[in-house]
Amino acid sequence: MTLEIDRLTITIGGRRVVDDLSLELPAGRRLGLIGESGSGKSLTTLAVLGLLPAGAEATGSIRLDGRELVGLPDRELARLRGRVVGTVFQDPRTSLDPVMTVGRQISEPLRLHEGLSRREARARAVEAAAEVGLPEPEQIVDRWPHQLSGGQRQRVVIATALITRPALLLADEPTTALDVTTQAEVLALFGRLVDERGAALLFVTHDLAVLSRVADDALVLSHGRVVERGPVARLLQAPEHPVTRGLVEATRATTWRAS
Ligand SMILES: Nc1ncnc2c1ncn2[C@@H]1O[C@H](COP(=O)(O)OP(=O)(O)OP(=O)(O)O)[C@@H](O)[C@H]1O
Ligand SMILES: [Mg+2]
Repeated sequence: MTLEIDRLTITIGGRRVVDDLSLELPAGRRLGLIGESGSGKSLTTLAVLGLLPAGAEATGSIRLDGRELVGLPDRELARLRGRVVGTVFQDPRTSLDPVMTVGRQISEPLRLHEGLSRREARARAVEAAAEVGLPEPEQIVDRWPHQLSGGQRQRVVIATALITRPALLLADEPTTALDVTTQAEVLALFGRLVDERGAALLFVTHDLAVLSRVADDALVLSHGRVVERGPVARLLQAPEHPVTRGLVEATRATTWRAS
């Protein structure tokens, strides 16, 4: 599935928070989105399924395999969400329903879109929970979100996004709350979805070490504008724009201090 964004502009209260952004993400490719805090990364990913906050307005074009999504009724967009488009958004607290067990939550997209029975759905949820490294998957599916740690809740969100094997995965800082080992496992899962199933992955991160593992190409955003784009290896080794250079240097400084 190919995602094409053409001249996307997002305005909030008269302010252009995303300005004339274009990108193409073909099936089987992994595109990173980096940039300082507030540069428009989250709003760009939210715009794809029309999930912008109240008061935000989007113009331009967002197409999935040629089908225009901007202006599509909510009902149609909801049909894509969870089935063809998996989402892991930045704040996991807003992504989980507090009155739904972990297992129900994980398998909800299957029940909605594939009409699985309760038993089948539960079995698939256990499997998915194990895949994202949740402890005691058989038991954890019967627990409630508030009984889980932040990192465990984040893994529930990731399991929910992956369970239908979506053709497009939108992931906004999905592994930030996870320890290094779990992070590596989750990144490997994303990689398999792309390599084995030909999914397209849009991945937002502020962590350039993560970026180099998870993405082929990347866009660098600054104040809502794309200031640089290219293969990740080139961006990291020979950044051209001052903003990209700043991000790379900041990463080096942190690594140096930590070692
Ligand atoms: N609900 C909102 N109401 C008003 N302004 C908003 C809202 N959400 C985002 N913005 C503004 O839009 C701009 C882009 O926000 P966005 O969340 O896309 O940034 P980001 O690149 O994801 O940052 P971070 O790395 O901190 O997650 C910011 O200047 C922010 O203040
Ligand atoms: Mg963000």
